[in-house]
Amino acid sequence: MTEITVADDGGDTMRCIQHNDHLFPVFNIQAITGLTSVKIREDDVLILGFPKSGNHWLWELTRQVLQGRVVEDDRVMNELLMESAPEEEYADLPSPRILASNAPLTKLSPEVIQKKPKIITVFRNPKDVTASFYSFALKLPFCKYTGKWENFVKPCVQGRFYHGSWMDHVLSWQKLRDTYPEWPILTVFYEDLKEDPMEQLRRLCSFLGVKRSEEFLKAVVNICSFDKMKDIKSHRAVFRKGEVGDWKNWFTVAQNEWFDQLYQEKMTDCQLQFRCTL
Ligand code: A3P
Repeated sequence: MTEITVADDGGDTMRCIQHNDHLFPVFNIQAITGLTSVKIREDDVLILGFPKSGNHWLWELTRQVLQGRVVEDDRVMNELLMESAPEEEYADLPSPRILASNAPLTKLSPEVIQKKPKIITVFRNPKDVTASFYSFALKLPFCKYTGKWENFVKPCVQGRFYHGSWMDHVLSWQKLRDTYPEWPILTVFYEDLKEDPMEQLRRLCSFLGVKRSEEFLKAVVNICSFDKMKDIKSHRAVFRKGEVGDWKNWFTVAQNEWFDQLYQEKMTDCQLQFRCTL
């Protein structure tokens, strides 16, 4: 495990932790080094997604749905983000635990593959992910990053910063689905959640095997709305804008063309469809 700095295209640097052939954010060294030895239970629920895809939102929705009552508190996913919280902090929690990670499955405990717990994975269009990632990196003191957007886009999309490339991440999920078709994995798109949260909550309930009234689900949508979460949670840096299509305020025409070209080259075999606008 080494702490390194990664330079953007203008020479500005971001601090990262290099461990197990992967770059992690500088969260918690004990948690990062212990990631591959975490004991997984068959009845855990894992929220796994590339950073800035809506993981906090999905974690909160899942928590509310599983509890079956609306809870308004300051708890956030980071408490159970396996690369951020050492295992001792969640080892004894009652089942079902809702654990999370932004790391690829190959960097997690091999027990994930052995036990095959339910996985909920969240995807968001890569242009909004990139814009969200940039704003987040500037805010996080541990990144020590002060670079410019124009120097950030390419290295980010090419996977030079922590957690690597969004495109590789998405392709690895598709491979996982093909390898283990029987594994209970629910795919949720950020854009679908924005467009019709009730429908996505019904899918979530059905996947988790719980029956919840429409009235309850409406209350969950409300307590998990962007404005409410931004208001209730003290982890403010996560809740920036919460929109689909904000990337248009960031990408130049040239950056957009460069991105689309790369996407076409790398993602030809991708069966997932991403919506960059609603
Ligand atoms: P923006 O930076 O575009 O606003 P993650 O949880 O994976 O880190 O993702 C963070 C992104 O999800 C941020 O995007 C954040 O605002 C958005 N988000 C978090 N909670 C949300 C909610 N309740 N509704 C809509 N977007 C939400």
